[in-house]
Amino acid sequence: MSRAMTDICPVLRAVGRLSTAAALAVLAFASPASGVYYHDLARNRQPCGDCHTLHYSEEGGKPADVEPGGPFQQLLIRSTTTKLCLFCHDGSDPKAPDVLAPISMYGGSGDEHSGAGFFDTSGGAENINGHDLGFEAAGVPFSSRTSVTLNCASCHDPHGTSNYRNVLTSPAGGSGVEVQMARDVFRDVPPGDPPSAGDSIDAYKESNEGYQAATSLWCVECHDELKPTVNTPADRKHHFVDVPINGAGYPTDSAHWVAGVGSGFGVTTGDATEGVPRLRFQVIGAVDHATAQLVAANNEVVCGSCHLAHGGNHEMGLVWPYKDSGGPADKDSGCQQCHNY
Ligand code: HEC
Ligand code: HEC
Ligand code: HEC
Ligand code: HEC
Ligand code: HEC
Ligand code: HEC
Repeated sequence: MSRAMTDICPVLRAVGRLSTAAALAVLAFASPASGVYYHDLARNRQPCGDCHTLHYSEEGGKPADVEPGGPFQQLLIRSTTTKLCLFCHDGSDPKAPDVLAPISMYGGSGDEHSGAGFFDTSGGAENINGHDLGFEAAGVPFSSRTSVTLNCASCHDPHGTSNYRNVLTSPAGGSGVEVQMARDVFRDVPPGDPPSAGDSIDAYKESNEGYQAATSLWCVECHDELKPTVNTPADRKHHFVDVPINGAGYPTDSAHWVAGVGSGFGVTTGDATEGVPRLRFQVIGAVDHATAQLVAANNEVVCGSCHLAHGGNHEMGLVWPYKDSGGPADKDSGCQQCHNY
């Protein structure tokens, strides 16, 4: 939560006792000044009333599809944060990026999914294809953390941040890291307010993204056993990240990566033909959207080269079916793009 929001917290508690009109006036007065980022970012803010309600009994202000028992904690209109977010992000609102399977939003866009992929279930169940929502994980892989239950706000700030995709700076507490991405189509050419369905597809589809820095460092805030100080050449725990494909002495084929044809490269993931679309990479020193997308021998590997942040069609949220059973044609495709054995 931003400082500005924390500052007005007592105000919101007080507004429960006021009339709706007076309360809305207080909230309008308390709205963050420009420069404070918001759910849909500074240029395109979202009304408080999309998520909070002051008088649940109010006819006009009542959400179309009311959940009985509200308003809930923090005057929210849904009983859990995940329910609140999925109210729009489950595919029912064509302007809000769909993060819950089945996803049809990106069909015909040229991309198979968004940058984050998607969750299999809305919560309460373990999912082998990525992160679980509302399910207590006794142990967390590559992490010293135990008994963690994730919801949307474990990773995103509902009120927005200046980070890429409003991710929290400190998802595991402590000082955290800021996550950067090149300016994307959405930020450079902001859609109207509210955004349109077509603009949202263009903004959130995977190929619109260009990674600059700290996306992997952000993941290791929670998966702390993969921090670069811990996952070292002398004590290797997992595949390295934030290293260039053409590093000296590496068992990689950077010319193959740059050419983008042959073993590993293809059009569709999960079909009978070997090869998947080019994996994601990071460009250190990128200054804009175009430079963050330049394929080069020194492109760097990131967690997102292999994993989708929400999850997807394949085990462990992997981008291609590396661990899936049944001997799929694309089993080794991702590895081959860089290693070409
Ligand atoms: C996208 C949904 C969303 C929007 C829009 C939104 N909020 Fe929130 N708000 C939340 C959620 C979720 C929480 C609970 C956060 C948590 O539990 O960490 C919250 C919590 C709060 C709190 C309590 C903070 C605390 O620390 O307990 C205040 C105050 C608040 N919101 C004010 C506002 C105001 C004012 C606006 C409009 C300017 C607004 N919110 C817009 C989702 C939203
Ligand atoms: C807020 C803490 C948190 C952050 C941030 C986080 N993770 Fe996780 N991760 C977890 C927890 C908890 C689990 C174990 C339960 C589960 O599968 O959701 C997990 C499990 C996983 C798994 C195993 C999934 C499976 O299906 O078995 C992968 C892969 C993973 N994380 C990758 C990532 C990547 C990549 C990022 C960065 C985009 C990331 N994580 C960021 C908390 C986090
Ligand atoms: C484990 C952390 C984590 C959790 C939990 C999580 N997200 Fe995300 N989310 C991310 C990251 C990281 C990205 C950016 C991925 C990228 O583009 O590389 C992202 C991207 C998004 C996007 C942009 C569109 C897209 O699909 O790329 C939306 C919308 C979103 N998340 C909503 C949600 C909602 C709603 C929930 C809960 C149902 C949720 N997230 C839970 C980490 C998380
Ligand atoms: C009232 C509908 C609505 C609700 C509720 C809602 N969202 Fe969104 N969200 C949207 C729309 C529409 C967009 C895409 C357009 C935009 O960013 O303005 C969006 C965009 C996002 C993005 C991408 C922001 C960016 O520009 O990178 C994230 C992340 C996200 N939502 C997370 C959440 C989380 C977490 C919650 C719950 C706390 C939530 N949303 C609740 C409608 C909603
Ligand atoms: C080059 C591809 C690649 C990169 C880069 C990569 N991973 Fe993985 N990751 C995998 C594969 C493949 C597996 C499945 C490993 C297996 O079981 O053989 C995996 C498994 C995992 C697991 C689950 C482990 C378990 O036993 O449940 C987590 C958590 C995880 N990765 C997190 C991360 C994070 C965080 C990053 C970035 C710091 C990252 N990975 C970078 C390919 C990669
Ligand atoms: C985006 C490019 C990229 C992808 C995809 C990729 N790698 Fe790598 N791989 C590298 C780079 C760069 C290195 C050198 C850095 C290092 O030592 O980890 C490397 C190193 C390795 C090493 C040598 C580790 C050592 O101790 O010397 C192995 C083994 C490996 N990768 C296996 C895999 C497997 C298996 C996959 C698929 C699951 C995979 N890689 C996918 C880029 C990639």
